[in-house]
Amino acid sequence: MYGGEANKDFPKALNQGIRANEAKKSERETKTATMTRLSGVPALPFTYVAHVLEVVAAVLVLVWNIHFRGGLAWDSTNKSLIFNLHPVVMVIGFLILGSEAIMSYKGLPFNKEVNKKIHLTLHLIALVLGIWGISAAFKFHNESGIDNLYSLHSWVGLGTICLYGIQWIFGFVTYFYPGGSQALRREALPWHALFGMFVYILALAAAQLGFLEKLTFIESAGVLKYGAEAFLVNFTALVVILLGAAVVISAAIPGPSEDPHSYSSISDA
Ligand code: HEM
Ligand code: HEM
Repeated sequence: MYGGEANKDFPKALNQGIRANEAKKSERETKTATMTRLSGVPALPFTYVAHVLEVVAAVLVLVWNIHFRGGLAWDSTNKSLIFNLHPVVMVIGFLILGSEAIMSYKGLPFNKEVNKKIHLTLHLIALVLGIWGISAAFKFHNESGIDNLYSLHSWVGLGTICLYGIQWIFGFVTYFYPGGSQALRREALPWHALFGMFVYILALAAAQLGFLEKLTFIESAGVLKYGAEAFLVNFTALVVILLGAAVVISAAIPGPSEDPHSYSSISDA
């Protein structure tokens, strides 16, 4: 077993082994370096940027619908006012509160238990307001004799709300009541965060489609393509994109107490 031919090949095999080990080591080092770089960037400044963008988006969507579109109403003979509730509630109630909920782990000075309660409560309020905001669009359509669910925006939007509800129920059952085993919570956490980010990005995309669709409608009804209102709507949509970027980046950066080299930080989720 140790003689002749096999022995001749031994240094070659050893060399190959060493080279493979070195390749693995350098791959590990690159990964570690990437993680260290990401964890070296603080999440907090991104949450500040997001708060500012939230205020700007809220002001812009209110100015648009109150000043340019005539105001907001749940009951009115002027059915457009019922529609106007839709973008306002979807941006302020659903997107902004949803953004705050995601950032609660990175932007608040409380312990994890308190942050968790704030996270789940803000997501619940966002979901309820999202359902209300969608009902305003349905009410407007029904009272104006317009078909429901004919557009890509409405399909993506309805899908987003359904997935948001599912994500909330899974999150609640796994991490709050009755709560899964330690192992399940640990295993499920990367999926919860990943799926949560996916649903959030889908909500941003639905809103973009909504802005685009409404602007196309009002431009075909006479609003100037380079007029003040068109600019206002496009800028609001851009601010929403930037808000989404700040929120996603803040969530992707590990928290200050987390050790980037292990998953131990999520075992007590
Ligand atoms: C994430 C946020 C949003 C969601 C989940 C959402 C969802 C929906 C849904 C489900 C409908 C269908 C109502 C029906 O068929 O009767 C709808 C309609 C509509 N939404 Fe949104 N929306 C969102 C944000 C916006 C925004 C910011 C605007 C900008 C103005 C907008 C503009 C419209 C328009 C013009 C309609 C009527 C035409 C259509 O059904 O496509 N939406 N939305
Ligand atoms: C639609 C609802 C929800 C969405 C979109 C969502 C989304 C997210 C996202 C994106 C993260 C990662 C945040 C980060 O790493 O900074 C996260 C973390 C987390 N979420 Fe949710 N979530 C939702 C509902 C819930 C609910 C109801 C609970 C129940 C308590 C929950 C518990 C948690 C926990 C424990 C973490 C881990 C925090 C950590 O240790 O880093 N989530 N969620």
